[in-house]
Amino acid sequence: MTTVRDLRAKAGSEPITMLTAYDAPAAEIVDEAGVDVILVGDSVANAALGYETTLPVDVDAIAHHVGAVTRATEDAMVVADMPFLSFGTDEQSAIENAGRMLQEEGADGVKLESGPHTVDITRRLVELGIPVMAHLGLTPQHVNQYGGFPRQGTDQESAERILELAREHEDAGAFALVLEHVPSNVARDVTNAIEIPTIGIGAGPECDGQVLVFHDAVGISEWSPSFAAQFGDVRAEMSSAVTEYVDAVESGAFPADEHSHEEADLDELY
Ligand code: KIV
Ligand code: NA
Repeated sequence: MTTVRDLRAKAGSEPITMLTAYDAPAAEIVDEAGVDVILVGDSVANAALGYETTLPVDVDAIAHHVGAVTRATEDAMVVADMPFLSFGTDEQSAIENAGRMLQEEGADGVKLESGPHTVDITRRLVELGIPVMAHLGLTPQHVNQYGGFPRQGTDQESAERILELAREHEDAGAFALVLEHVPSNVARDVTNAIEIPTIGIGAGPECDGQVLVFHDAVGISEWSPSFAAQFGDVRAEMSSAVTEYVDAVESGAFPADEHSHEEADLDELY
């Protein structure tokens, strides 16, 4: 079992690995490969549910995927991504929504897209025993505010705001910080300024760890962002398997005798 203490110990000596997973087979694959943290990201919206943004995914939807992942995971830490409007409105519902991920779905912690509005709720969740991963830089739940998915922290003022918020979330008790789509020098300076591990996506090589979306990393996604390297070609493999299946059925090669049940000893039906 990977814990927040293991991550803290690893940071600065060995890179931390994090990948998303949304279902049991992916979780098994990621867990068996020795990944430290599995994030059940709201990126399930884009990666698996056919949405353009993460906004349509709600607490029930994330909970459904978190359960699938925790049932299949033995070693990795499982972090549930808190979806749009499931936190930051009122404290009670944030606690209930985050608590549900641990109490009912077996997650080990939650991630909140962070801002000035998440400092107090981060502190409160941590007090209650819910480990919180913070997330700064590009926070995709703000897509409508941004008008897209632009890189963040590209001017002095916004870079300083990221650093300030990183410090505030560390003080509030967050156990790690995701930095998304920021210049690598900003990620480096934030990493140097705080004690908790930073985990980057599109944030350069100087974070304490890296995270990618599973479907991008293994090559299932039809499209993926330029910062998401592809380490396999699973889509091509799946596609050729499905094409072979279709050919085999159409040609009569499948099912063959070995795929068929023995005939039952019955009179002919009419
Ligand atoms: O939802 C997600 O997959 C994420 C990661 C990209 C950090 O938030
Ligand atoms: Na997310």
